Amino acid sequence: MSLYAFELGRKKDLCCAELVAILGKDKLVERNLDTAIFDLKIPNYQGLQDKLGGTVKIVKIWEDFPFADCRSDKLEERIRPHLEKIFTDHKGKINFAVSTLSFNNPKEINIKQILNFSKLILKSLGLNSRFVNKNFENTKPSTIYKARVLEKGIDINIIKGKEKIFLGESVSIQNIDNYGKRDYDKPWRDARVGMLPPKVAQIMVNLAGPTTKSIYDPFCGTGTTLMEGLLMGKDVVGSDIDQRMIDYSEGNMKWTEQAFQTKNTSRVFTKDARFLTKEDLPERVDAIVTEGYLGEPVSRLPAPEIRQKVFRELANLHLNWLTAVHRITPKNCKVVMCVAAFRKNNDTYRPEYEFLPRFNELVEETGYRVVASYIYDRPDQIVVREIKVLEKLN
Ligand SMILES: C[S@@+](CC[C@H](N)C(=O)[O-])C[C@H]1O[C@@H](n2cnc3c(N)ncnc32)[C@H](O)[C@@H]1O
Repeated sequence: MSLYAFELGRKKDLCCAELVAILGKDKLVERNLDTAIFDLKIPNYQGLQDKLGGTVKIVKIWEDFPFADCRSDKLEERIRPHLEKIFTDHKGKINFAVSTLSFNNPKEINIKQILNFSKLILKSLGLNSRFVNKNFENTKPSTIYKARVLEKGIDINIIKGKEKIFLGESVSIQNIDNYGKRDYDKPWRDARVGMLPPKVAQIMVNLAGPTTKSIYDPFCGTGTTLMEGLLMGKDVVGSDIDQRMIDYSEGNMKWTEQAFQTKNTSRVFTKDARFLTKEDLPERVDAIVTEGYLGEPVSRLPAPEIRQKVFRELANLHLNWLTAVHRITPKNCKVVMCVAAFRKNNDTYRPEYEFLPRFNELVEETGYRVVASYIYDRPDQIVVREIKVLEKLN
């Protein structure tokens, strides 16, 4: 086993929950500001990375040491042997980066000095190098990805843990081109039904747990969760009240199968989710993963009475479809779903929300209970998503 730090995406609690669901709580060593550190064996770094919507990169930890050793001279002593070991027989030019994670105050660490001494260490090994950090500041993961630092060199990470510093190298990074392809190259998109980012759909599939073999989305729209399910090796079934959406989903499934050579089965059908019966879903599904219906799109915050009306309609819908799927799914079939909430300001640090009232009680009436809840939003969104994980009560 070795220690690995997983750099968490923008919504850190949600991204950490995905990791815990997939890797196991018992493997979590600590969660700090930007990373979650796990003690694991990882046979295929990029293979694991590609399954995780919420992880920006995976860092293999070389060593850890007290905060006091974070001074540049001490860091040089610690980094030198690793670079010597990795690059002794290396030929050709190297692209490298220095990344710092979980430091509240960027001044705590002198990136310029680390870049300079790393370049000198590589020079002493007879290697020409170029660092990708701009203005001697911390790097963005997208810069590391675009400069192909992991293929052409090394991304050295210094991570401030809760009680010590972790030092290590990135072993994988999120493939942004691949996510872009899934999002923008699929044949059917529809801005009106809202567009669930593929990364979020992937996180939701993972929240259902690692042993899930088949998933069902009763509000499949253009099929984003179904596509991500297929790409993660699950059999997928989807339905929607709107025949046009079913045609779109079908087209997107076919495209996914061809573009990514997926092997699992997919099926879609038209149905109002409130009236689902066992005949509609003869196959066994291990989890329901759905963005669900979030109400009509809005361009400004509706008046309070309109918000209450939207919530009443959505509460009614959730009550009916959850009751229907409870009857026709196996005992431990979890539901991972989104519930609409209104964001009442665009303050990044002090967001204010209005949530669907008494959602937990509603869920219990249908035979489920809410076991986890995470907000997924952006400051400029008015209707935001609460991602909920439900388990059956009986
Ligand atoms: C937010 S969209 C889902 C978008 C989807 N996640 C995607 O990536 O395209 C909600 C979908 O729920 C469908 N819908 C609304 N009410 C429904 C109902 N009662 N039963 C089934 N589908 C319904 C709509 O037609 C719409 O396609």
